[in-house]
Amino acid sequence: MAKSRIQFICQNCGTVHARWAGKCDSCGAWNTLVEEGTAGGIGSGPQSQKSARKGRAVALTTLSGEIEDAPRIATGISELDRATGGGFVRGSALLVGGDPGIGKSTLLTQAAAALANRGNRIIYVSGEEAVAQIRLRAQRLGAASSPVELAAETNVEDILATISDGPRPDLLILDSIQTLWTDLAESAPGTVTQVRAAAQAMIRFAKSTGCAVVLVGHVTKDGQIAGPRVVEHMVDAVLYFEGEGNHHYRILRTVKNRFGPTDEIGVFEMGDKGLREVPNPSELFLGERSEKAPGAAVFAGMEGTRPVLAEIQALVAPSPLGTPRRAVVGWDSARLSMVLAVLEAHCGVKFSQHDVYLNVAGGYRIAEPAADLAVAAALVSSLTGLALPADCVYFGEISLSGAVRAVAHAPQRLKEAEKLGFGKAVMPILSEELPASLATGSFQPEALSELVARIAAGTK
Ligand code: TYD
Ligand code: MG
Repeated sequence: MAKSRIQFICQNCGTVHARWAGKCDSCGAWNTLVEEGTAGGIGSGPQSQKSARKGRAVALTTLSGEIEDAPRIATGISELDRATGGGFVRGSALLVGGDPGIGKSTLLTQAAAALANRGNRIIYVSGEEAVAQIRLRAQRLGAASSPVELAAETNVEDILATISDGPRPDLLILDSIQTLWTDLAESAPGTVTQVRAAAQAMIRFAKSTGCAVVLVGHVTKDGQIAGPRVVEHMVDAVLYFEGEGNHHYRILRTVKNRFGPTDEIGVFEMGDKGLREVPNPSELFLGERSEKAPGAAVFAGMEGTRPVLAEIQALVAPSPLGTPRRAVVGWDSARLSMVLAVLEAHCGVKFSQHDVYLNVAGGYRIAEPAADLAVAAALVSSLTGLALPADCVYFGEISLSGAVRAVAHAPQRLKEAEKLGFGKAVMPILSEELPASLATGSFQPEALSELVARIAAGTK
């Protein structure tokens, strides 16, 4: 029989170390090694099994065959269904990650109520809140009368025993994975070993019964799902629920999806009666635009398959500092440096004596390189003090040589701009024809310097 021994597991990446150290060799994180026992735990390997059990034969089957239910259960909350790719998939496990207090429990309570009202059997197990607290939230959301089955429990074996009673549930929500613990692992709840073992047990339940399982996970300050980084690899889909501190809207972002598209977003607004869907996010991000201000450009962006317009604001001001300041909110600061360098090198615009501030309005985050052109336009507009035309959208990638490069989904971007009343666009040269309403007054520069010259000349 193998002797139980002590090992140290990095809570960040899951690497096993033989002895304690201040820093994990594998991921470089500090103070993340935690002592965990191996005796009989899941993942402790075959040598620690006390006696090998004789295997049981399973029946092999064919690819074709009866599929009893619809493979997906749609909630009817269209922003949520969009992010999951059309509803929760039966027999799959989904991880919903996000900062504490962002609204994960609220979202899942609303989803649970919507599904239960449609006649599904929904079980909500909370390890974080008492039944009374969950009831209070449900009352506030106007969901108290829906037939969701509720429990406050953290032990995996007890949960499994509870839910195997009665008909198979359609959806099981576990809030949160960090509070679950199983008898099979010896370490404390929240450690990698426990989280992995508990997730494995719940995923096994999902696969064997066909119930959809949703795991809620907290995210640490630096944006990683605390502890259960490992869980991301085990589940079928990962959604992140994010939002900026003081803004009311929340974005549900698909990071991984074995059964649907990634890069999808669902947009919600947090109000006093819970989360409200935002079917047209562009209106939200364009919010209160002042049309005459220099330094503002509207970017026609894409989030997955969905076009989103957002305002990019730049402030370029003479700097009293030897090394001027560059500050960015909502965009990549390395990308800003690149755009500034291209403007200096190829367009003769000098920023070396100026502080540069860049902000994406509404607290929205842009990840696309297609925003380059809008950023460049906003920067030049702020530097020259000349406002850009208010009815114009910008998109296009800028290469280091100063050329404007084509980006994907141009027709969808233009269609969204047209829908919101924009009459002009500045964009790369396209292979397709422009829509009639945007054709006049639109500008398709080959090089960034052409756009800079146009802004400097004050051409509207
Ligand atoms: P919650 O769903 O408990 O967050 P999480 O489960 O991600 O930790 O949401 C908590 C926050 O949402 C809390 O700060 C209060 C706010 N909230 C509202 O503004 N309106 C509401 O109707 C509800 C239920 C919560
Ligand atoms: Mg919660």
